[in-house]
Amino acid sequence: MVKELNPRARFLMGPGPSDVNPMVLKALSTPMIGHLDPQFIEIMDEVMEMTRQLFQTNNQLTSVISATGSAGMETCFVNLLEPGDTAMVCVNGVFGNRMCDIVERCGAKLIRVDAPWGEPIAPGQVKDALEKSKPKLVAIVHAETSTGVLQPLTEISKMVHDAGALFVVDTVTSLGGTQVKVDEWGIDAVYSGTQKCISAPPGLSPVSFNTKSLEIMDQRKTKVQSWYLDLSMIRKYWTGAKRAYHHTGPISMVYAVHEALRIVHQEGLEARFERHLRNHKKLLDGLEAMGFEFLVAPEYRLPMLNAIKIPNGVDEQTVRARLLNEYNIEIGAGLGDFAGKVWRIGLMGESSTPNHVNLLLGALKDILG
Ligand SMILES: Cc1ncc(COP(=O)(O)O)c(C=O)c1O
Repeated sequence: MVKELNPRARFLMGPGPSDVNPMVLKALSTPMIGHLDPQFIEIMDEVMEMTRQLFQTNNQLTSVISATGSAGMETCFVNLLEPGDTAMVCVNGVFGNRMCDIVERCGAKLIRVDAPWGEPIAPGQVKDALEKSKPKLVAIVHAETSTGVLQPLTEISKMVHDAGALFVVDTVTSLGGTQVKVDEWGIDAVYSGTQKCISAPPGLSPVSFNTKSLEIMDQRKTKVQSWYLDLSMIRKYWTGAKRAYHHTGPISMVYAVHEALRIVHQEGLEARFERHLRNHKKLLDGLEAMGFEFLVAPEYRLPMLNAIKIPNGVDEQTVRARLLNEYNIEIGAGLGDFAGKVWRIGLMGESSTPNHVNLLLGALKDILG
């Protein structure tokens, strides 16, 4: 007989998911209603409005895709690209690489702009690449979770628009933990995830598209290659005057995100971003006092994802396993080029507290001596 579920509670300090507020867990157990019930439509409308406020946009098409952040990524590319189009992707970590894979699966011509992992993409690189080609869109990751780099966007956004291309941005890790100003920064299409700084469970992907993006979609000559992620249909379910069935909305997850977004706005965006920064600085001071070095230069460090170099002679897997098994603390291993070389410590949403920082510093001191 299989036993009832009873996983041990953890302190989630990896690259996501982050800790979830008990109010959000409670929202998950709210009674089920139909996905076209007028009450649910009202909840969807509120989720859209709170998501607009978080993205700092007036875009009407701002909603959540019914799957994790990768589906938000895929939604942007499959709807904006047609076979034969050209797309430029900036790559300085795992998630830029993932974008490239999707672009190629769309049958589009890929132009890569690569920077070393752990460093941001320099605006000059994008400028040079735009002089050599005329892409339909340029895509970039705002917060590269694999390395801890915060990518400045405004200068690149201007170059992209001067070249007549759309600007597509991944904000999976940044949204809810630092400024994401979709309208002011000229972002045409954007996606995120719920399990990082929004601190809801994984399962939905907030997205937003401006009118320029929608016009490009309306002018398509070919069908979107993915039925499930075709925004021309999803739009009718989320924003149509008469809501039309597309797929059965994930009711409980929408409840959870509704509550998580309500908590985000109750705290206030500025206060929330300030808290993320404060706890990042506390962790930084504590780790530097212990002799740890950060991977990323100070001006490009993410407040919610701290990549630190593993000191020589430390068996990184043993330390992570001890943190998990003896202290119930989860931190992240390095990915790709940084596997075995860095740890990734997340201070995202509900996990960004002085208590989390103190617990981790204390546990690391115990383990490393
Ligand atoms: C920057 C970035 N983009 C995309 C994704 C993919 O999101 P998901 O794992 O929710 O599909 C992640 C997940 O960690 C991420 O950090």
